[in-house]
Amino acid sequence: MKIHHVVESQQFSLPLLQELFESTQRMEKVVARGGTKDYSGKIMASLFYEPSTRTRFSFEAAMIRLGGTCISTENAREFSSIAKGETLEDSIRVINGYADVIVMRHNEVGAAKRAAAISQIPVINAGDGMGQHPTQALLDLYTIQKELGNIDGLKIAMVGDLAQGRTVRSLAYLLSKFDRVKVYFVAPEALKMKEDILQHLEEHNVWYAEETDLAKVASEVDVVYQTRIQKERFGDRIEDYEKSKGVYIIDTTVLSLMKPRSIVMHPLPRVGEITTDVDSDQRAAYFRQAQNGLFVRMALLSMVLG
Ligand code: CP
Repeated sequence: MKIHHVVESQQFSLPLLQELFESTQRMEKVVARGGTKDYSGKIMASLFYEPSTRTRFSFEAAMIRLGGTCISTENAREFSSIAKGETLEDSIRVINGYADVIVMRHNEVGAAKRAAAISQIPVINAGDGMGQHPTQALLDLYTIQKELGNIDGLKIAMVGDLAQGRTVRSLAYLLSKFDRVKVYFVAPEALKMKEDILQHLEEHNVWYAEETDLAKVASEVDVVYQTRIQKERFGDRIEDYEKSKGVYIIDTTVLSLMKPRSIVMHPLPRVGEITTDVDSDQRAAYFRQAQNGLFVRMALLSMVLG
């Protein structure tokens, strides 16, 4: 199946997800062998206008494991010619002459769509402001399937900054493709999941509930997907940030409520919303989740590069 740009989760049909995840399983074996030279001569440009550790490194490691090479700007707002006033569109046109694929993280919602609209080479959205983070959602879904064996019929709690979190938005879109999934949105009042996602779930007959009691939900669900309260998204709404941070913390007390065969996920980075004593529990899946990002992104790059 063909895919060119990767801009939003809605692009991924169930057959495409199945193909991607079969390829991802093969990529796990490729990495175990030390990589391949299949994409030798191919160049990936990573263009990051917002900070990143996992997404940028895993994409770059993925390209190198595939035999390709990377050109990169890690702080594009300061170190690319955008600082001199160049438009995103002009930057993308120019990079089209240097690379075979662009992986871009941007602070503005819709930036990936704008880049894709004028790019001949594939553009992969590595996060666009409070919009989407589709490749994170793909690795999240792969992790759930790998850890729990299936997606259909699962109960998943998304916790924390749901209003401003792009990972939970992208994951909700993907989950809406599966059967009998139940989603619990657990968030402080100021950070509740936005109406467009709730409406999408309703249109796709996905059961959801908005809850405030994490303890009650924790004992019900198969997956607790914790997120960071993102200070950088609050601007001058410091009071809202102070009220929201620390409301939901996954610690060993919450863990003790969870089912033996359940998992705790987090897109990371964390800043205290999962205590470190949770890490040693087998249900703490977040570092395995981050590792899966390498395999999924290798599969994705091979899909768009053909
Ligand atoms: N999960 C995620 O996007 O992490 P980074 O911001 O470190 O890339």
